[in-house]
Formats: sequence, structure tokens, C-alpha cells
Amino acid sequence: MPLLVLLLLLFLLAAGDLSSSATRNHPAYPCMPPHFNSFPFCNTSLSLPHRAKSLISHLTLPEKVQQLVNTAAGVPRLGLPPYQWWSESLHGINDNGPGVRFNGTIQASTVFPQVILSAASLNRTLWRAIARAVAVEGRAMHNSGQAGLTFWAPNINIFRDPRWGRGQETPGEDPLVSSLYAIDYVSAFQSRSDSLFLSACCKHYTAYDLEKWKGFKRYTFDAEPPFKSCVQEGKASCLMCSYNQVNGVPACARRDLIDEARDDWGFEGYVTSDCDAVAIIYEEQKYAASPEDAVAAVLKAGMDINCGNYLLRHTESAVKLGKVTEEDINRALTNLFLVQFRLGLYDGAPKRRRHGLLGPKDVCTKEHREIALEAARQSFVLLKNDNGFLPLKRNKVSSLALIGPAGDKTNLLGGDYSGVPCNPISILHGLRDYVPSTSYASGCPNTSCLVDNEFEEAVHVARVADVVVVVAGLNLTEETEELDRVSLLLPGKQKDLVNAVASVSKKPVILVLMGGGPIDVSFARDDPRIASIFWIGYPGEVGGQVLAEAVFGEFNPGGYSTMTWYPESFTAVPMTDMRMRPDPSTGYPGRTHRFYTGDVVYGFASGLSYTTYSYKFISAPNELQLLGYSQKKVEPTPETVDGVDYLQIEENIACEDLKFNLKIAVMNNGDMDGSHPVLLFSRSAVKIKGSPMRQLVGFDRVFTAAHKTTEIEILVDTCKDLSTVDETGKRIIILGTHVLMLKDIEHELSIKT
Ligand SMILES: *[C@@H]1O[C@H](CO)[C@@H](O)[C@H](O)[C@H]1NC(C)=O
Ligand SMILES: *[C@@H]1O[C@H](CO)[C@@H](O)[C@H](O)[C@H]1NC(C)=O
Ligand SMILES: *[C@@H]1O[C@H](CO)[C@@H](O)[C@H](O)[C@H]1NC(C)=O
Ligand SMILES: *[C@@H]1O[C@H](CO)[C@@H](O)[C@H](O)[C@H]1NC(C)=O
Ligand SMILES: *[C@@H]1O[C@H](CO)[C@@H](O)[C@H](O)[C@H]1NC(C)=O
Repeated sequence: MPLLVLLLLLFLLAAGDLSSSATRNHPAYPCMPPHFNSFPFCNTSLSLPHRAKSLISHLTLPEKVQQLVNTAAGVPRLGLPPYQWWSESLHGINDNGPGVRFNGTIQASTVFPQVILSAASLNRTLWRAIARAVAVEGRAMHNSGQAGLTFWAPNINIFRDPRWGRGQETPGEDPLVSSLYAIDYVSAFQSRSDSLFLSACCKHYTAYDLEKWKGFKRYTFDAEPPFKSCVQEGKASCLMCSYNQVNGVPACARRDLIDEARDDWGFEGYVTSDCDAVAIIYEEQKYAASPEDAVAAVLKAGMDINCGNYLLRHTESAVKLGKVTEEDINRALTNLFLVQFRLGLYDGAPKRRRHGLLGPKDVCTKEHREIALEAARQSFVLLKNDNGFLPLKRNKVSSLALIGPAGDKTNLLGGDYSGVPCNPISILHGLRDYVPSTSYASGCPNTSCLVDNEFEEAVHVARVADVVVVVAGLNLTEETEELDRVSLLLPGKQKDLVNAVASVSKKPVILVLMGGGPIDVSFARDDPRIASIFWIGYPGEVGGQVLAEAVFGEFNPGGYSTMTWYPESFTAVPMTDMRMRPDPSTGYPGRTHRFYTGDVVYGFASGLSYTTYSYKFISAPNELQLLGYSQKKVEPTPETVDGVDYLQIEENIACEDLKFNLKIAVMNNGDMDGSHPVLLFSRSAVKIKGSPMRQLVGFDRVFTAAHKTTEIEILVDTCKDLSTVDETGKRIIILGTHVLMLKDIEHELSIKT
């Protein structure tokens, strides 16, 4: 009798779990009644590989093939539910993939600033806080039946070309910044590598940074940068292989690249294709001779799942034709199921699993809102501020005017991969909280700004105001996935609008730039009628509030742009030219702050504040002797390139012994407390062909009170930070003088054997 009662109770509990999930027609959760513990793969006492093997052994070939696509079918006889692998979480949980829905109990989620903006904080603690908050909202949405457990972020491709429509999704152009961002995002999002809170995905592996541009499509084009940090230190549980080819072979068919990740970097997880990246291997790239060959190429290369349905359609025939074996499929399934096990997907109904109590109350919380606010505050970049025009004093502003098509909108605050924001605040709304009578004119119908028939109204509104704020810049109509820019100038007639307003304004105007890519605003930089320029990227749902706080000096701005602001003349460079290094013989200027030799509108790491900072090296070595340690280890033999002595970095170099700490003083010379990023660069006084002009060694966000000094330490890893890669890809340390640089302060260090 008691046994019967117990069983009944168990059944009722399970039924409760089922009916509370969003869909009643779900077959069941895996390993729940009636299949409760009847399969070894449900037995949590067994090892994960054992469970994966057991699960695979129960599947027929057609059932297996159905698991190889992002929309994986269920297997009702085993109690396996359908699973959607594709959910998105770039800077907030969003419904740009089919795995996330806002149609249930949860109708919105926190929209944090777009990544290119948060990157400008250069604050790793903040980056982790954002990723953790996004993950909590993701797990909460999963438990409510509105999201999966596998998310396809971050995007860590290098922002190599200023026109790239997805540059906004990335941490910018510097490989060190991107690596550290990747580590922070992934480790905070996933929590732990053995049992995953959620799964994050480093994309797009690799050499992918161009959308459709002048007839070139992003997937027919070659190049190559690294994802090592994301896997090795971030412990990412997913890699997404990209559309493009890498040296003539589609990225998803590059077995060497996937092997490198697994064997050399210790990658444990699954490899997904970018969406339809398998179909195009045959259909567009003509790399494979048949659909079955395309399927064989990716499965044999180590790809595990196809975003799209190409594998669903062609894998069985590939097996029949002998191009793919069932072993190839089992290999992929093992990787897929292991990630699902680590996520706890087979450990019962969502509410019973680890973190099962997270739900609607954990989304759009005050705490997450505070992180979104903090992210925008730490990231806004002040590019110009003539004569300390900003901050404004609230009681000294008799009237305020806001001009610009984005001023009263909230739908462009997030940039791409945005979800439904919790409670977005437009710039107009934010300013009116300070000056209720703020007047507004859009000036243009939208950011395309093709017509000037609303200029007159804008000019009138600006003329009568005491202080004028103009919002200009970009929207997803200019830059997004599948859309690169052609020009770096302000779109349409926006420049004319700014000029028209500046010419009638009583005082110089405040220009606010929105957008994810750099804009050539040299006209505004050089025009004294424009007192201040703020770049606010896509600032997220609280953007309007934070802009008003910035203008009225509620905080001291301290963001540094992690991209180079190239002039319009850069558009003469073909986007398809992937070379980072300049080529003086053809006038090719190179790319990014490490190599670009041309003029800039604003350089990498530009950013002002309402105070001024200065630096001093307190302690730093003048000399590094490689001889002492080399006698302990092996005899390093300096070699020469172009008459320059260098030491090749090999495994037997004791890099640990060559690390040293730099002590740096940061002085705040102004009247306002502030925090800002301190960036340490290095360059070698002796140049070899192909070495960068400078490289970023390290950075730290530092708080310094007004008229006070803060001391910080930055660890220099000689092998990594003072070395360079020669033209053949060999990593070397050039012997001789190296220069460490903090803004305009330099310290010389001599490296000898
Ligand atoms: C689960 O596996 C353990 C270890 O092999 C075994 O002792 C136990 O009986 C299994 N449980 C069930 C319900 O099969
Ligand atoms: C939400 O949308 C999805 C996809 O359109 C649908 O399957 C699901 O039933 C919807 N849920 C609710 C509660 O409407
Ligand atoms: C870095 O970000 C964290 C989280 O927002 C914040 O508490 C901290 O003060 C920031 N550090 C500096 C120096 O601004
Ligand atoms: C921004 O683009 C969206 C479409 O992506 C459009 O609905 C909106 O009106 C645009 N806003 C402005 C100010 O251009
Ligand atoms: C922008 O406004 C113009 C009218 O001036 C209109 O033709 C165009 O479709 C609008 N663009 C968008 C994206 O709404």
C-alpha cells in the first residue's frame, strides 16, 4: 500500500512538472516517468561517456540523423524531447534564434549595451558581471520553457574592417582585448566546465569578418585569426565554424582547425556550423561534388551539428553511398549528448534540476538593470570636450533642445541581436528627467536621412534653446548581419543637419554619436561650433538615462574606444583584402592600431573624461638578461633576420622566469573622481618586416580620486607581450631595446643574452 501511494505521489509530481511547462504536447522530459531510470543513460551514477554511449546504442540510423541539426527531433519511445540547439545571448537573451521566445510568462529580458560599447569599459569585472546576469536570465527562461540551454555567443572575430556590419557584436580590433573578453564572457556564462550552467559558443571559427559587400559574399572568402583563449582558458563548450573558406577550404571542413582546437587547446564540446554553412559548401562554394560529399567533408572534419537542415536531408544517402560511416555519426552524437548531459538536460524536468528554481522573478531584475546602467556608464566614450563644456550644471541650463531621428526612439538602443527590453529609456526621456521642458525635433525621418524637409523645424527648435544636443549616427539600416557599410561618413544628410543646427545654436552644440562602427566625423572634431562629442554605441535599454547622467556630470566618463576611427579615404581599400600589415609598395595602409599607417579620425583607445590623468613608471626593469636562465635550461642561439638579432620562442624557453611586474602610478589631476582604463603598450626599437608598430601588453580599469594617486601593477609576460610574429609565423623576441608605453610616457628596456 505505501509503495502504491509513493508511486502515485511521484506520478502526480511529474504530471505537475509537465503541465506547468509551456507546451503540454511535449512527449516528456528525458528520464522522467514513464521512462524514469529505465535506461542506463538516465543513471546519473554512471560516467557521462558511458551514458552517451548507452543513449546512442538505443537510436536507429534515421533517429541519429535527426539529431544532427539544430532543430533536433524527439524520440518519444525513449522519452527524448525535441531540442532546439540555437538560442542567442550576445548582450542579453534575444529571439534572433528559434530557441528563445518571449511569448510565455517572461515577455522581456534585460538588454545590456551592445558588445562594442561594453568593451570600451575595459573592465573585466564588468564583462563577467554582464555575462553572469545574461546567463541567469537564460536559465530562468529555459526553466520557463522559453529558451534552450545552448547559446551561440560571443562573437570574437577581430573587428578588422570599419565597414563590417557585425563589428558592433565584437569586443573590437585588438586580439588581446578580444581574447580576454572571450575568456570572461564564456567562463562567467558557463560557470563551470564540468557541469555547465549554460553553454556558450565561440564564433565564427575562423577568419570571418565581412558581410555582403560589393557583390562579395561572406562565405566565399579566405583568412585566419585564433580562438585559442576562448577554448583554452574560457573552456567554451561550443565552437561555430564559419561560412568562409580558410585558404581555399570551407572552415567547417577544415579538420586541421577542429583537431587543433580539440588536441592542442583541449576543446571539449560540440562544433556547430553557422546557419546553412554546409549547404553552401556544395551549392555556392562548389567545394564538394555532391550534397553527400559536403556532408562527408564536414562530418569527417569533426563538425557535429548543422544549423539548417542539410544534414537531415543528405546524411542517410551519404551513408548508403559509403561516404559517411555510422561511426562518423556516433562521434558527432557523442559530442552533442555529452554537452546535454553536462547541462543536466537528462536529469529530470527543468524545475527539478540544478538551478531549477530560477524563473520569471530572476529576469528584468533591479540587480540586472543596475549592471546594464553600470555598463553604459563605464563605457560611454567622450571624444571631444572643448574648454570643459561638459558637464552641464542642471541649474544653469534654462532650456534644452534635442535634435535627431534617434532621439525619441527606443528600438535602436540595443543594436543587433537585441531581445525585447524590459523598460527602455529613450534619450529624450532621459533628458526630460533632468530638464522637463526639453524640446525635440527629429530633423530627419530616420537615420538614412534622405530628405531635409524637416530641417527647418529642427533649426527653429535649436535656435531658441539655451543648450542643444544633436543625436546622429547609425542604425541597423546601415550596419548589421548581411549588411556592411560602403561609406564611413554619417548617412544621408545627417552632416547637413548637424551643421544647420550648429550654425544657429546660441552655444556650441553637444554631438551624440550612436552606432557600432567608427564614423568619419572629422568635420565635427574640427568645428568649434561643436563643443563636445560623445560616442554611446548602442547603449542598451537604459541608454537614455545614462546619456542624461553623463551630460549633467552624475558620473565621470571613462570609456576608451576599442576600434580605430578611420577616415572615409580608407574605403578605397577593398574589404576583401585581409592583410593586416601595410604594403608601402602599393600604398596599402594596413589595418588596426597595430599596423595601420594612415591618418585617423580618432585612434584606438581614444577617450576623455571630466578630469585629466597622468602616469609614471614607479618601478620597471631597465634590462632583461636571457643568459642566466638559458644556462639553466638550454643554450639559446640568437639568430638574425635582416641583420637583427632575435631569439625564437620555443617550448624550452623558461617563460615563467621572464615575467615581471611593472609598478605604475596613476595621477588624477582634476577636481572630479574617476575611473578609466590604463593601457600598457610595447614596441621594439628595432623593427623587422611584419612586426607591429605597437602592441597592447595589458590593461586595467583604475579608480583614482580627485587630486590623488593610485598605484597599480601590470604583469608583463616577456614571451607573450614583448615578442612578435615574423612573416613566416614564427614567434620571436627581438634582442635590443624595447619601449613600454603609457600614453605619452615611455620606459626603455634592453633585452640581452
Ligand atoms: C546506476 O548505476 C550504478 C553504477 O553502475 C548501479 O549500481 C545502479 O544500480 C544503477 N541504477 C539503476 C537504477 O539502474
Ligand atoms: C510560443 O511560440 C512558439 C513558436 O511559435 C510556439 O511553439 C509556442 O506554443 C508559443 N507558446 C505560447 C505559450 O504561446
Ligand atoms: C569595474 O566594474 C565593476 C562592476 O561594475 C565595478 O564594481 C568596479 O568599480 C569597476 N572598476 C572600476 C575601476 O571602475
Ligand atoms: C532604425 O531601424 C529600424 C529597423 O531596423 C526602424 O524600424 C527604425 O525606425 C529606425 N530608426 C531610426 C531612427 O532610423
Ligand atoms: C526612411 O525614410 C524614408 C523617407 O524619407 C523612407 O523612404 C525609408 O523607407 C525610411 N527607411 C526606413 C528603414 O524606415
